[in-house]
Amino acid sequence: MQNTNMTEVTMEKIVSLAKRRGFIYPGSEIYGGLSGTWDYGPLGVALKNNIKNIWWKMFVDSRDDMYGVDAAILMHARVWEASGHVNGFQDPLVECKKCKRRFRADQTKGKCPECGGSFGDVRQFNMMFKTHVGAAEDESSVSYLRPETAGGIFVNFKNIVDSFHPRLPFGIAQIGKAFRNEIAPRDFLFRVRELEQMEVEYFVRPSEWEKAFEEWRKQVLAFTDAVGISRGAVHELEVPDGERAHYSKRTIDFEFDFPFGRKELCGLAYRTDFDLSAHTKASGAALSMVDREGEPPIVPHVIEPSFGLERTVLALLASAYTEDELGGEPRTFLKFNSKVAPIKAAVFPLLKNKPELVAKAREIYTALKKDVPQIMWDDNGNIGKRYRRQDEIGTPACITIDFQTLEDGTVTVRDRDTGAQERRHASDLSGLIAPHAGL
Ligand code: GAP
Repeated sequence: MQNTNMTEVTMEKIVSLAKRRGFIYPGSEIYGGLSGTWDYGPLGVALKNNIKNIWWKMFVDSRDDMYGVDAAILMHARVWEASGHVNGFQDPLVECKKCKRRFRADQTKGKCPECGGSFGDVRQFNMMFKTHVGAAEDESSVSYLRPETAGGIFVNFKNIVDSFHPRLPFGIAQIGKAFRNEIAPRDFLFRVRELEQMEVEYFVRPSEWEKAFEEWRKQVLAFTDAVGISRGAVHELEVPDGERAHYSKRTIDFEFDFPFGRKELCGLAYRTDFDLSAHTKASGAALSMVDREGEPPIVPHVIEPSFGLERTVLALLASAYTEDELGGEPRTFLKFNSKVAPIKAAVFPLLKNKPELVAKAREIYTALKKDVPQIMWDDNGNIGKRYRRQDEIGTPACITIDFQTLEDGTVTVRDRDTGAQERRHASDLSGLIAPHAGL
């Protein structure tokens, strides 16, 4: 796959850079790994936090019609019975008669890809992680780790209405972990068992769902643009009847050209009143609201934009990965949009063994870090190596303190994309770097 930076991007290159540079490591690695889990290192955490902050700012903080929640991951079993997940959240499973390995039936072609053996009958496998709450391990203590954050939003609908008395349309937003016992986790972050979702349930009058759906369609793309996912690699797919989730009357999948093919990045669904009505029926709590004085209570319909954080990270890495030549040398760099870049600027003393340079660099670093926390100190190796290291993690600017700094207070600021350097006064740095952090 070639991205818009005209670089041939492979999964091997992305996975290797992500591990080498401290973004993402295999989960439980020293014990041989745990399939479908990944651990985030310092740069991965910073990248994820930047993405979540952009999402939250865009869809919650900058709007008047949004309410944020952070619901428990462990939820009452009846939530998932009512939502249809206990009976319906399943994938077709086949087992090889010879080697006993298991696969998703829709991802194999009749024969075991490992040993060529034949498969037994297809059976349905529920993807929820089941556990027990408390000391008793019987049916009454069964609980599930939520398979989508949406469930935590629907069970809090009444709380939000009672506390804040919103009028339609309004949304409830949540960012948090979800868990799916995928039969075949694959393609690095693409299909994992522990994931993070960023979801909005947007409640509307039933007659206004189409208008809201169209508005959210634009908002989904506004978000992918804001984080820097290549627009040319994002495609809308109208999901046909029979292929949508059980709760949806209309779904658009936003697909991305990943190195392994065009696959779902995030989705937009019209969930009707399926969830509020199902929870009303199962719990006995009336999940309706009075929208206009004098009118009877109504059950709102729901538009749901749903973003997966892991797939956003992967699409960003694939969009940003760039190979070029600088100063006659090949280099690799991440052309991150500066707002998602984990480190906004790196500060170097030109020479590590000159105490006066190191002291001045420390002074500048400490002052800048007060205004922009996401900056890094680096005095390891020569300047060329430091530039390459920062390029590989996508740092937009490198600031070098040299002998001229001691005389006139100016530093060099080097641009990641072009390698161009300019001299700026140290007192300009905060104003220069803060916009990278969205400050
Ligand atoms: N609440 C709606 C919902 O959960 P979904 O299409 O099943 O819908 C929404 O999931 C998003 O969550 C997907 O578009 C994807 O970004 C992410 N996602 C789902 N399953 C995933 C998995 N196993 N690994 C990584 N991301 C996943």
